[in-house]
Amino acid sequence: MAITILFSFLFLICILSYGSGTITAKRPKITIEEATVDDLQLAFKLKTLTSRQLVLFYLDQIRKLNKNLGGVIEVNPDALSQADIADKQRCECNHTLPKLHGIPVLLKDNIATKDKLNTTAGSFALFRSIVPRDAGVVSKLRRSGAVILGKASLTEWCHFRSFRAPNGWSARGSQGMNPYNSSVEVCGSSSGPAISVAANMVSVTLGTETDGSIICPASFNSVVGIKPTVGLTSRAGVIPISPRQDTVGPICRTVADAVNVLDTIVGIDSNDKATSEASKYIPVGGYGQFLRHNGLKGKRLGIVNKFFDSIKDDTFLSQTFVHHFTTLRKQGAVLVENLQISNIQDVLDSDTSGEFDTMLAEFKIALNGYLSDLVKSPVKSLSEVIEFNKNHSKVEKIIEFGQDVLELAEKTNGMGPKEQDALSNLKRLSKCGFEKLMTDHSLDALVAYASGASTVLAIGGFPGIVVPAGYHNTEKYPFGICFGGLKGSEPKLIEIAYAFEQATKIRTKPPVDWSLS
Ligand SMILES: *[C@@H]1O[C@H](CO)[C@@H](O)[C@H](O)[C@H]1NC(C)=O
Ligand SMILES: *[C@@H]1O[C@H](CO)[C@@H](O)[C@H](O)[C@H]1NC(C)=O
Ligand SMILES: *[C@@H]1O[C@H](CO)[C@@H](O)[C@H](O)[C@H]1NC(C)=O
Ligand SMILES: *[C@@H]1O[C@H](CO)[C@@H](O)[C@H](O)[C@H]1NC(C)=O
Repeated sequence: MAITILFSFLFLICILSYGSGTITAKRPKITIEEATVDDLQLAFKLKTLTSRQLVLFYLDQIRKLNKNLGGVIEVNPDALSQADIADKQRCECNHTLPKLHGIPVLLKDNIATKDKLNTTAGSFALFRSIVPRDAGVVSKLRRSGAVILGKASLTEWCHFRSFRAPNGWSARGSQGMNPYNSSVEVCGSSSGPAISVAANMVSVTLGTETDGSIICPASFNSVVGIKPTVGLTSRAGVIPISPRQDTVGPICRTVADAVNVLDTIVGIDSNDKATSEASKYIPVGGYGQFLRHNGLKGKRLGIVNKFFDSIKDDTFLSQTFVHHFTTLRKQGAVLVENLQISNIQDVLDSDTSGEFDTMLAEFKIALNGYLSDLVKSPVKSLSEVIEFNKNHSKVEKIIEFGQDVLELAEKTNGMGPKEQDALSNLKRLSKCGFEKLMTDHSLDALVAYASGASTVLAIGGFPGIVVPAGYHNTEKYPFGICFGGLKGSEPKLIEIAYAFEQATKIRTKPPVDWSLS
């Protein structure tokens, strides 16, 4: 592979020019696979790599791997010409370019692009629909010079069609596969972004989360996911579930890559009101300054027993986390252990908490809003989506998987008294539970196994970051560690996640060669 050679050569140059004369230093075996955004920008700068070569590399990877992995739904026919523009700009420009300039990005298929790509949430009901404009986050990506490589698969309708539908499956994307082990689940609903970036089919990706949809697939596919505070990133032009809980965030191979993406997509968008309120959280100078090796020093981390319940009978996982806690302490963190969130049982039961009922009503309103904004579409309302699915029951697998959640949502009638009650209940649960615990113990973050804390973070619009934490010894699935905090606590969470990642360096690329199987 020509690009691999170019790249190894690049690192040789780096050692020679930056090393302290230690020409005998062993040449690290770094290839374009696993390269970070910073690696790639350095290669661009040293002219050992162009965006065109990078896009060609990923198109080749997708051609070889995607048939088996199903992470990508569509490839952008304009990706190469976008890369050429970036290459030309780089030559003409004599000042620092944005971090994602010339870097290929893959978008979950619910994030709208006004180009040759379709935006369908994985459903044929939206195939050939024409969006009015790019999603807010896509405008920011384009302005930074990123290359839109294509659309990633997902659990259809972000898992809000039916709970019987398997994670990672959509009619348009078929079943996504975990690149670490095909008999292990991929989780969802941002399955495609996690699969694709884990398997080196792209540099960086965007996913979306309403409750667990970034944290869980990132955890299962051994990548980093940032679920930002709701409103920090624009949701305009994103096929919605709940504007109260929806958020768009990066899924990448490293914390630094994810932070580069976050820096690019945060900020005010006049098409999403929540962004002006949340923009107060954006630090001057961006998030990159929080990538600090000593980021764990002095941090107070809460260990809530409930978030480790699911692994308490698994010796390997329990021991792994005991080990991780030791690492966190060694890095200077103070662990506050054996914590309880008083009302956790009520929070985790989405039926009694009111989370599900509220989401049903919010979904109908928000989806009808999205659909009525479309310039052209086979379906213009939720009821037409349901009808479309009945008309195309075979390809949409309606008999097997049903569409019970869509049907329940269609039965709702706005935010009535029941939904208002549920809303106040959710607010109260969050205030008297998670928020109280955080302030009572002066915590900087909570720690959780994989997506154990996702509902706690979801109902209040709180941020979380998941980082690879290991590979199960017998069942072979990857798993992550999640750090969650109060609104706007991304700077602290980034410090914690980065310092943990650098102290452990757990992620390895998938061991399976998917191009042969
Ligand atoms: C580019 O910038 C460098 C340093 O800032 C300067 O020395 C050089 O003359 C500039 N080149 C052009 C073509 O402007
Ligand atoms: C998007 O959908 C159209 C049908 O409207 C299809 O012809 C086209 O191939 C799709 N785009 C891509 C990039 O796959
Ligand atoms: C479903 O099929 C009926 C009968 O062919 C047709 O009238 C209707 O427009 C279709 N609806 C959708 C949303 O595809
Ligand atoms: C995949 O996982 C199964 C069980 O979860 C395990 O038995 C098998 O060895 C794993 N395969 C690989 C290639 O790790």
